[in-house]
Order: sequence, then C-alpha cells, then structure tokens
Amino acid sequence: MNKIKDKVVVITGGAGLLGIQHINAVLSNGGKAVVIDINLKKINLLKKKFKSESNNIIFVRCDISNENMVKKTLSKILNRFRRLDILINNASVDYPPLKKNNKYKLENFSINDFKKDIDVSLIGSLICTKIFEHINEPINETSISFFN
Ligand SMILES: NC(=O)c1ccc[n+]([C@@H]2O[C@H](COP(=O)([O-])OP(=O)(O)OC[C@H]3O[C@@H](n4cnc5c(N)ncnc54)[C@H](O)[C@@H]3O)[C@@H](O)[C@H]2O)c1
Repeated sequence: MNKIKDKVVVITGGAGLLGIQHINAVLSNGGKAVVIDINLKKINLLKKKFKSESNNIIFVRCDISNENMVKKTLSKILNRFRRLDILINNASVDYPPLKKNNKYKLENFSINDFKKDIDVSLIGSLICTKIFEHINEPINETSISFFN
C-alpha cells in the first residue's frame, strides 16, 4: 500500500542534498511536499527545478530554530494544503567543505559552531515537532536525533 499518496509531507532543510531526494520520493508517490529551508538561494533554484509540480509543492523560507517563523510556516501550510501528515526533521547546519587546517576536527571545533548545530538539529527539530504537533508520523534524520 502506498502510504504517501495524498499525504502532506513537511521536509525541513528540504533544499539540501537529502532534501531533494525526499522531495522526489514524496512527489513520485503522489504526495504533497512542503519544503522548509533557511537558504533562499537554494529555494529559488529548486522552485525552478520543480516548476511543473507547483500544484503539489510549496517552498517556505524559515529558520527552524526560530519558533515564531515556524508558527508562521504552519499557517502557510494550512492555508495551502489544509492539513499536514508527516514531518521529516532533516535540516542541519550546512558546513562548507573541510579545509586543510580542518577547523571541524573535534579538537579545533568552536563551541559557538557546536551551539549553532544544537540550535538547528536539536532545538529546531523540537520546535517543529512541537508546533506541528497534530501530525502522526515524525521522522528524524538529524545527526542528533531524539525520537528514533
Ligand atoms: N548526506 C549524507 O550522506 C548524510 C548521511 C547521514 C546523515 N545525514 C543527515 O541528513 C541530514 C541532511 O543532510 P544533507 O546532506 O542533506 O545536508 P545539507 O547540508 O545538504 O542540507 C541541510 C539543509 O538544511 C538547511 N538548514 C540549515 N539550517 C537551517 C535552519 N536553521 N532552518 C532551516 N533549514 C536549515 C540548509 O540550508 C540545507 O539546505 C543532516 O541532518 C545530516 O546530518 C546526511
């Protein structure tokens, strides 16, 4: 049985590498995709890519670590699709490629960067799960996962 058909699936960090795979999976199974991302440039590129699917997909620029922005995002989703069914907590801090002097090695990793990571992966996932609370199926993919 196709569990995605006609379901509204929210994908946080949906404009990233795995996000695009999630979008393709949702659309090819007859679902509706809500793509949430902080990066407007990536969102605009994807809007062009998925132009022919505009009835089945919306894009919302939102920082998931900001509770007010996530609340406004919920209103946008409900205005457009009237419901939401599945949340994929997928967003994570978009680090640039590793450099030679590797500041992302644990011994060089800045506590401020670590806090930003926690803000998105952990707090952001918690905020989305809390605000989209009436949905049935939270799926977590963040590195710091607290549901699965
Ligand atoms: N790519 C892999 O091979 C892989 C493997 C295992 C786990 N993961 C996990 O899967 C998730 C997605 O990975 P990815 O490779 O697609 O990462 P990615 O960096 O390509 O995508 C993450 C997206 O999250 C967005 N984002 C960052 N901060 C945000 C915020 N505050 N609010 C909203 N959006 C925000 C970024 O703009 C980006 O588009 C991550 O949690 C990652 O740890 C990825």
